[in-house]
Amino acid sequence: MAEPLTWGRRYLMCPPEHFGVLYEINPWMHREVQVDPDEARAEWDGLVATLRDAGAEIDLLEPVEGLPDLVFTANAGVVNGTQFVPARFRHPERQAEVPHDVAWFRSHGFTVDELPDGVHHEGAGDALPFRDVLLSGYRFRSDASSHVALSRLTGAAVRSIELVDARMYHLDLTFCPLDDERAIVAPTGWDAYGRRVVEALVREPLVLEPDEALSFCANSVVVGRTIVMPACPRRVGRQLEAWGFDVVVVPVAEFLKAGGGCRCLTLALDVKLGPLA
Ligand code: ARG
Repeated sequence: MAEPLTWGRRYLMCPPEHFGVLYEINPWMHREVQVDPDEARAEWDGLVATLRDAGAEIDLLEPVEGLPDLVFTANAGVVNGTQFVPARFRHPERQAEVPHDVAWFRSHGFTVDELPDGVHHEGAGDALPFRDVLLSGYRFRSDASSHVALSRLTGAAVRSIELVDARMYHLDLTFCPLDDERAIVAPTGWDAYGRRVVEALVREPLVLEPDEALSFCANSVVVGRTIVMPACPRRVGRQLEAWGFDVVVVPVAEFLKAGGGCRCLTLALDVKLGPLA
């Protein structure tokens, strides 16, 4: 019997008061596409309500003017018990988010440990726990060299996965742990070695077709047996339900304009990484 995830019941989120597409740092972002602020707020409220209904607790980060992507709290850093390793963003446009994230974690009882200078890593967007290891993506946003540093700081075993499709520039667009045996996976986003890493780890993968992956359906939030998804292709929904999950689709079209879905809008605060075996 598959055991439910040991994490995913407490999340940090940031209201979209200052959200917008003000620059272009991924292939989905186009400045000429307007974000509707009321619609964004309604979608974000819908996500919060759905996560709470599923049994999750939501903590809030204060939004900051001029930091439109602060809503994507998944990128704030890596959480390990009461340890927080802040992100080092690749793009200058997001680097000013870090002090706000760090201040929140310090004032909420976390110890802050920083990655070495010049090593990029974009937090939980590129780092997801599965069983006793931390899977971490690299290339578009995070550097491969960040993984050793992350392992040193957290004591966790980190497995590297090279991302190869710029449209799926963070690991959380290609990988979604469901329980200790299953995950939604988009292998077209990984190189051959990365595919083998996941194959060796995930007993029952739900393998997405390329077009399914581009619907962002792997960018989902799992709260126990509930899966909160930005989109759910029919075949994917049937498989998840056959496995006994409840699927809830929460439209987040405004956030997709910035290249983010449900998972990107959340950062799990109850992750405890396993020690190096
Ligand atoms: N506009 C943001 C960026 O390009 C979106 C972040 C999406 N986050 C994620 N965890 N995939 O950085």
